[in-house]
Amino acid sequence: MAVPRLLLAAALVLLLLAVGALPRGADAQLSAGFYSASCPAVHGVVRQVVSQAVMNDSRSGAAILRLFYHDCFVNGCDASVLLDDTPATPGEKGAGANAGGSTFGFDLIDAIKTQVEAACPGTVSCADILALAARDSVNLPATPRHVYLPLTRACQLSEQLGGPSWAVPLGRRDATFPNATGAATDLPGPGSDLDRLVAAFAAKGLTSRDLAALSGAHTVGMARCLSFRARAYCDDNVSPAFASQMRGACPASGGDDAAAPLDAATPGEFDNGYYRNLVAGAGLLHSDQELFNNGPLDALVRLYSANGAAFSSDFAASMVRLGNVGPLTGSAGEVRLDCRKVNSS
Ligand code: HEM
Repeated sequence: MAVPRLLLAAALVLLLLAVGALPRGADAQLSAGFYSASCPAVHGVVRQVVSQAVMNDSRSGAAILRLFYHDCFVNGCDASVLLDDTPATPGEKGAGANAGGSTFGFDLIDAIKTQVEAACPGTVSCADILALAARDSVNLPATPRHVYLPLTRACQLSEQLGGPSWAVPLGRRDATFPNATGAATDLPGPGSDLDRLVAAFAAKGLTSRDLAALSGAHTVGMARCLSFRARAYCDDNVSPAFASQMRGACPASGGDDAAAPLDAATPGEFDNGYYRNLVAGAGLLHSDQELFNNGPLDALVRLYSANGAAFSSDFAASMVRLGNVGPLTGSAGEVRLDCRKVNSS
């Protein structure tokens, strides 16, 4: 009697899989309520530490957001980017787009991790902390609230400054090794053309709509002269006024580290100003302007430039998809106790 019942159950599972009713693959194992029983405090702890950091330096939010993207694009969202170099294994921090760039924010992740460990020892992965901190960085106001503003304006701005929010699927585990080679190859550089950008995102299972929406992260933060010099002096799809602004901020030689805002119009707001810049030929990076350069993404850029709500909702959805890129789940990897090193070191 037991055998036919077993067969029946197996047939049912196969049928459910065939119609897509059962979760398949690692992504399906992430869930927003993953720490509901084991560490409900994690959400408040992460938000509080990020909030304090953003109050002190609005750039820290941008750094965390970029760090999350750089983590997910290299071996998936597994906190591999947080591992320090060891004598035997070079980490990702000095490789490719991470090298010398603005992927600081490691100290902030350490500060969050210390407090999360105090609340729930050995429970929350560094990869999940990074995913939560990235969401909170976007959603929290990017401008310190203690800046003086006339009362009526302050009310308006406090509603406008924060970007979208979303429920962050959780349950990722941490990598036990970095991938410096992947960091050098998988993150497209600022000189990339549209084909290269689309291909880099496709390689991670992300669409060109994801590319267009996630690039809107460049509504906050800064880039170094090194990253936009070629655009300032060589590109012809740039508005003359913006070209001279760029040249003022970035000499033709030297001054590689001089920084300029990625969204010069509204640098402190997580808004759709980035897309308005693109439509005006005022994207800071060559790769930014590629999204609006008489190509297939022009219409989407126009939509986002005119409709902030459309951008917000697409950005939130694409951040969830970015967070689903190749996570370690179940018993794979580990929950690191110190985000900078694997537990066995
Ligand atoms: C589409 C391909 C992308 C390229 C080519 C690119 C390139 C860059 C470059 C060159 C910088 C400046 C680095 C420097 O000069 O130090 C930068 C900064 C930044 N990127 Fe991207 N990026 C891309 C996508 C993304 C995505 C998907 C996100 C997040 C979802 C993101 C978030 C940021 C942020 C927030 C900053 C500012 C960081 C800071 O101020 O410290 N980027 N990016």
